[in-house]
Amino acid sequence: MLGIDLPRYEKIWLWFGVITLIIFLLVTGIMAFAMNLHPAAGHERTVAPEQVLSTAPFDKPGVYPVGDKEYQVVMVAQAFNFLPAAPTVPAGSTVHFRVTSPDVIHGVAIPGTNVNMMVLPGHVTEFTYTFKKPGEYLLLCNEYCGIGHQVMMAKMVVQ
Ligand code: CUA
Repeated sequence: MLGIDLPRYEKIWLWFGVITLIIFLLVTGIMAFAMNLHPAAGHERTVAPEQVLSTAPFDKPGVYPVGDKEYQVVMVAQAFNFLPAAPTVPAGSTVHFRVTSPDVIHGVAIPGTNVNMMVLPGHVTEFTYTFKKPGEYLLLCNEYCGIGHQVMMAKMVVQ
């Protein structure tokens, strides 16, 4: 390679490395620009972290009906609790979560469902889930966020 006299296997490995790198960059480029896949998918909306609690809709966290058995849950994940602490919806409801954080990265996970959101300060995470079975679902933070991380939880009540 490059006219330098290297042992044959050394050259083979160099080319192997260069070609692997090119393939990797091509795959990344195709995914980003042709397939439009970006890490921030679902985080496009933004809100200034220091103004979360004074910016609509996060100034009034809660459960809002938006249709027949369809609710929007506006949620603030902060060190070390969730607002609202016990969002309640009827069984069979489709819930559109909108969550943000005023401080550090948190998570929203509801075991037994596929609800698993990463909540980034400055971004609004959105996720939709239909709660078919009634019950009290544990809603917890699954991103290490500080000394109170292990007590950061709420419950999702499905009646
Ligand atoms: Cu919030 Cu861990």
